[in-house]
Amino acid sequence: MKISIFGLGYVGAVSAGCLASDGHEVIGVDPNRTKVDLINQGVTPIIEKDIGEMIAATVKSGLLRATVDVRDAVLGSDMSLICVGTPSQLNGNLDLSHVRKVCEQIGAAIKDKDAFHVVVARSTMLPGSMSNLVIPTLEAASGKKAGVDFGVCNNPEFLREGTAVYDYYHPPKTVIGESDERAGALLVELYAKMEAPLVRTNVETAEMVKYTDNTWHAVKVAFANEIGNICKAVGIDGHKVMEIFCQDTKLNLSSYYMKPGFAFGGSCLPKDVRALTYKARSLDLDLPLLNSILPSNQKQVDKGLKMIMDKGARKVGILGFSFKAGTDDLRESPLVDVIEHLLGKGYELKLYDKNVNLAALTGANQDYILNHIPHISKLMVDSMEEVLAFAETIVVGNGAAEFKALPGLLKPGQSVVDLVRISTEQSGGQYDGICW
Ligand SMILES: NC(=O)c1ccc[n+]([C@@H]2O[C@H](COP(=O)([O-])OP(=O)(O)OC[C@H]3O[C@@H](n4cnc5c(N)ncnc54)[C@H](O)[C@@H]3O)[C@@H](O)[C@H]2O)c1
Repeated sequence: MKISIFGLGYVGAVSAGCLASDGHEVIGVDPNRTKVDLINQGVTPIIEKDIGEMIAATVKSGLLRATVDVRDAVLGSDMSLICVGTPSQLNGNLDLSHVRKVCEQIGAAIKDKDAFHVVVARSTMLPGSMSNLVIPTLEAASGKKAGVDFGVCNNPEFLREGTAVYDYYHPPKTVIGESDERAGALLVELYAKMEAPLVRTNVETAEMVKYTDNTWHAVKVAFANEIGNICKAVGIDGHKVMEIFCQDTKLNLSSYYMKPGFAFGGSCLPKDVRALTYKARSLDLDLPLLNSILPSNQKQVDKGLKMIMDKGARKVGILGFSFKAGTDDLRESPLVDVIEHLLGKGYELKLYDKNVNLAALTGANQDYILNHIPHISKLMVDSMEEVLAFAETIVVGNGAAEFKALPGLLKPGQSVVDLVRISTEQSGGQYDGICW
């Protein structure tokens, strides 16, 4: 394929060297003439393992060249990759001025091109940047329609400096956000030989995946450092702890617990986070990440409560109020917190949870209900139907399988606040998901 690459920094230079080494005809574009001259002399503009040899070889074989001439690059290629910088502004906001400029330039060249051209944004940009800036700028400059006259994709780059060439060939995944099927299909061809999982999605999801990834990586570093700081203060080897922690790929390093939804609760997580952060405070350790966990969890409880109250109805039914499906444990269930707030504000409630059946409860849970939350036990009913016959707002509090039928059972005027995603429906009409 013939590919033009805009921006010959880390991402652009690595992409240029790798794509040309794969046999594609590559034209690099950068307003920095020094970088352009270096490439044309077969010299890498960046320091990165293996890239020097790749650029030297591909320039020599005629597969790679560079230019400052945008029109030459767009007319001479089937696809343009945008790899320009997206730095921070002083206030932390993203500076998209280079992206805007390059889109104006590419768009002006597309205006004079008859063949279908695909523009692929590889620069990291916040969700909405494609729809609010990249696509309108390209359309305005070209006088053509994205998805019809030319294609647009968002294809985040996951390489790490220092191992960039290796990462280019061994990405954790390839994510293609596409404006139309045709544009996505052309980009898929570029990655045909990669063994990584390939995901095709819409451009906004692709944009958000990149930020989710990098924020998660940042959280991992901060988490490991804070655990290490506690370990050092109590004379434990933090590296040994994290080594053992990382061996658990069922609960620790896995997709478990990674679904947006309601607050955590139960007899362990809140208690144990509280104890560890108290211990850290007693050691005079300042651990902002660990200290933010319980307040963040409380914010999710507050958000759920506000959603329920914003529905404006006084009769509320709760389906599932143990802290997760398949248990009768109510200790520190965030739903119990919600229920108590609603009661305090004078709402009428009926609650149903198959697993929380007073007659069948024993031990700690029976004691908890009878002695700590007796007012709640009086609101419990025996079936989902009883809740549906009574409530104007129905809250789904855990993911018990029987609640999946709910959307089909609603009467006019009833609304659902789903805290666990029983339905993949997006919010709208009678249905409202807490964070989807
Ligand atoms: N560096 C990384 O490890 C990495 C990894 C993944 C994603 N990213 C993202 O990729 C993007 C590029 O990062 P980078 O580190 O390669 O940036 P960089 O600053 O090293 O390079 C950007 C290049 O773009 C050029 N440029 C500016 N305006 C241009 C224009 N109108 N036309 C053509 N070229 C233009 C600049 O001269 C510069 O050479 C950023 O959004 C970054 O967040 C970077």
